[in-house]
Amino acid sequence: MAFDLASLMDARRGENFKLHQQFLNPQLARVLKTIGMDRFYEKGEGCYLIDHEGQRYLDFLSGFGVYALGRSHPVIKKALKEAIDLDLPNMVQLDCALLPGLLAEALVARTHEKLERCFFCNSGAEAIEAAIKFSKYATGRSRILYAEHAFHGLTNGALSLNGGKEFKNGFGPLLPGCDAVRLGELGALERELRRGDVAAFVVELIQGKGVYMASEEYWTGAEALCRRYGTLFVADEVQTGLGRTGRLWAHEHYGLRPDIVTVSKALSGGFVPIGATITSSALFEKVFSKMERAVVHSTTFGRNQLAMVAGLATLQTIDDEEIVDRARVAGESLVKSLQPLLEKYDMFKEVRGKGLMIGLEFGEPSSLRLKSRWKMLESAHKGLFSQLIVGPLFNRHRILTQVAADNVNIVKLLPPLICGQEEIDYFVEALDDVLNDAHRNSSLVFEFGKNLAKSALHR
Ligand SMILES: Cc1ncc(COP(=O)(O)O)c(C=O)c1O
Repeated sequence: MAFDLASLMDARRGENFKLHQQFLNPQLARVLKTIGMDRFYEKGEGCYLIDHEGQRYLDFLSGFGVYALGRSHPVIKKALKEAIDLDLPNMVQLDCALLPGLLAEALVARTHEKLERCFFCNSGAEAIEAAIKFSKYATGRSRILYAEHAFHGLTNGALSLNGGKEFKNGFGPLLPGCDAVRLGELGALERELRRGDVAAFVVELIQGKGVYMASEEYWTGAEALCRRYGTLFVADEVQTGLGRTGRLWAHEHYGLRPDIVTVSKALSGGFVPIGATITSSALFEKVFSKMERAVVHSTTFGRNQLAMVAGLATLQTIDDEEIVDRARVAGESLVKSLQPLLEKYDMFKEVRGKGLMIGLEFGEPSSLRLKSRWKMLESAHKGLFSQLIVGPLFNRHRILTQVAADNVNIVKLLPPLICGQEEIDYFVEALDDVLNDAHRNSSLVFEFGKNLAKSALHR
């Protein structure tokens, strides 16, 4: 019988966790079961996921920021179906196809005037790998600086720029000459740059892990220092790019003009893996300096036409649906709606971020009654409280969120940029309910915590 996707899915419905346990990463399946997130999703629509029982889940994770336009966007679907039906001459390789040219032109038109060329790849980490290689080659220097808490992906080069030991341990030696500097400290940055051997300073303008930010003075100062010492300033916009923070690019908030911008997650509407490294002609002319070097950096699937079509349709949809403005307005509304909860709950300490990239920070409560419970949880497992928020938000209210990083009490929100007041109100009410339980010392929330700590400890 010919391949039939629908019958295959039907016949094997519900076997997803079993298959992952047997053939993929069993620990991921264990973690998801432990925190009660083992579902069989059958559909994705806009801001929602729908499971096999027809239950709807509000997706405030957006595939780690991929679904800026929401899931199953009709314009991108139509464009991809059209592309398949056109039988495009995909990946001829010894060819300069039209669609990569059009997508590069569209991206360049949306960046500052010194960014003139694109390299296409398949992921955020690959876009960073290109930025590392291009910077080293173009400057003739060997070192790369990154910020503490940074996350730029998990391939070898990108991992060398990771601010978390938990990701690096046991995978060394990584790339030599990669050093962390503290975000917000210009003196520390200048001490490193002054040595004259730093090819690039690679940064997220808003850090994905923890939603940490620095001041405008820091960013303008950091960029100026990079210019003074001949170091390339690389803005990793893999997560923040394409409207997430309420501007098309997060670096626009600070009036910056990076030498290299990396972009990925939202660029193909969530349908096809894609990444891009955008930089100047001068830099490209150094790396690809002569015909013998025409393919000195490349990847087989980099300019594949489905990714290019999805990218073109996504960029146009971002414009047509005024996605960037909507993200800004929705973000302001979400932050405003959360203010009363900040005042109401002792352990809710801060809401930070820009647009629809938001971190909710929790900390030790001041009341004696709550303090002892908090300490008990924290001693069982640091950062456990944030899991006590994410768990009930999902299990009781069917809202998907994430803990922002290991060992911190920060919950991160990355809603689709199309979300509106209805989704915001639903989220805020649900958070109020969960925090209210935690605050009243309800056994529900703390029991969940104790069980979680026990299973975490027994892993
Ligand atoms: C800022 C940033 N850079 C790079 C990456 C790596 O992207 P990918 O997972 O597609 O390799 C991520 C992924 O979360 C990211 O947030």
